[in-house]
Amino acid sequence: MKVYKIAVLPGDGIGPEVTREAVKVLHKLSEIDSRFYVEMKEFNWNSEYYLNYGKMMPEDGLEQLKEFDAILFGAIGDPRVLDSVSIWELILPIRKHFQQYVNLRPIKLLRGLESPLKQEVPIDFVIIRENSEGEYSNSGGTMFQGETREMAVQNTIMTRQGVRQIAEYAYEYARENGLSKITNATKSNVVIYTMTFWDQVVEEVAKEHKDIAYEKYYIDALATYFIQRPESFEVVLASNLFGDILSDLGSAIVGGLGIAPSGNINPEGTFPSMFEAVHGSAPDIAGRGISNPMAQIWSAALMLAHLGRKDLHDSILQAIEEVLMERKVLTPDIGGSATTVEVGDAIISKLKLME
Ligand code: NAI
Ligand code: MG
Repeated sequence: MKVYKIAVLPGDGIGPEVTREAVKVLHKLSEIDSRFYVEMKEFNWNSEYYLNYGKMMPEDGLEQLKEFDAILFGAIGDPRVLDSVSIWELILPIRKHFQQYVNLRPIKLLRGLESPLKQEVPIDFVIIRENSEGEYSNSGGTMFQGETREMAVQNTIMTRQGVRQIAEYAYEYARENGLSKITNATKSNVVIYTMTFWDQVVEEVAKEHKDIAYEKYYIDALATYFIQRPESFEVVLASNLFGDILSDLGSAIVGGLGIAPSGNINPEGTFPSMFEAVHGSAPDIAGRGISNPMAQIWSAALMLAHLGRKDLHDSILQAIEEVLMERKVLTPDIGGSATTVEVGDAIISKLKLME
């Protein structure tokens, strides 16, 4: 039996509600699969912790997390704490220090869900977003506050290593999953230094993988194609900012934030990777027990695939799809009236190991 050690950080708002359901699913799998066991440890590092201790996690927080095979993260964000604090002092340090330079976001229309797009086409692709540099770099500054000449500069940082490693990951992902095309999201016609460099390095990697097709679109046109012909994409490779925006657009065409999962991945396995729903802490519905746990449960499934158990990932996805197709136990965001706990229980009742 293989034992996986998972750090669980439920966070704020609906984070704990949806994470509780994902944890239940992991326990259930441990129960029904004799080869699999998860050992989970929960950490209360969130905005409440910040209000008590003046920091989002202890000094040795990253050291503590390093020992785990993976991290399951809820969501962070509380009206009493600046978003810049909760994000820059908890999520971003984990992503950066653990070199989770891949943000993986599946855009897949599950069976039983309808896309707001009228056309009935299968939508099933992934967005691979650069997660450690680019437009979200802590480089820049402000000057002359309050004067008419007040100014702000925010630098985009693209490094050869950074661009190369995300492009290589995209190609490896395509190869491992039997996919045949990479779509590069760019804007090198206008952002002439950084995006031209991005294209150049991506295309160097593309030349090393000639058996996989390569195409490039400017981000504005690509956004329209997401709506007009989403079925034509397999792997979309994007910089930090472009990937962030495209993945919210992507999640909107396949059922919304209550469903959308993600992984922050350190492909080398030097550090634990972190899996989290795309949504935030949803303060508008927190505490009412109506948040959709599917995004977080699917994120836990991505975690299992990352840990080498693609079969358990598929079992979870199958169970989610069965619940969606029955249309009996759904949360309000996707047209039902069930609670978070009821949806979690329904998914658990459908869990079966793959043959
Ligand atoms: P949000 O994702 O929390 O909520 C957006 C809308 O979607 C809300 O109407 C919410 O009720 C709904 N929603 C989100 N998840 C849902 C679910 N599982 N089931 C049903 N409905 C759901 O984004 P928002 O409102 O912009 O941000 C709220 C807080 O979350 C902020 O403090 C923000 O900084 C933080 N945030 C944190 C993230 C993270 O922890 N990685 C990511 C995004 C936002
Ligand atoms: Mg986002």
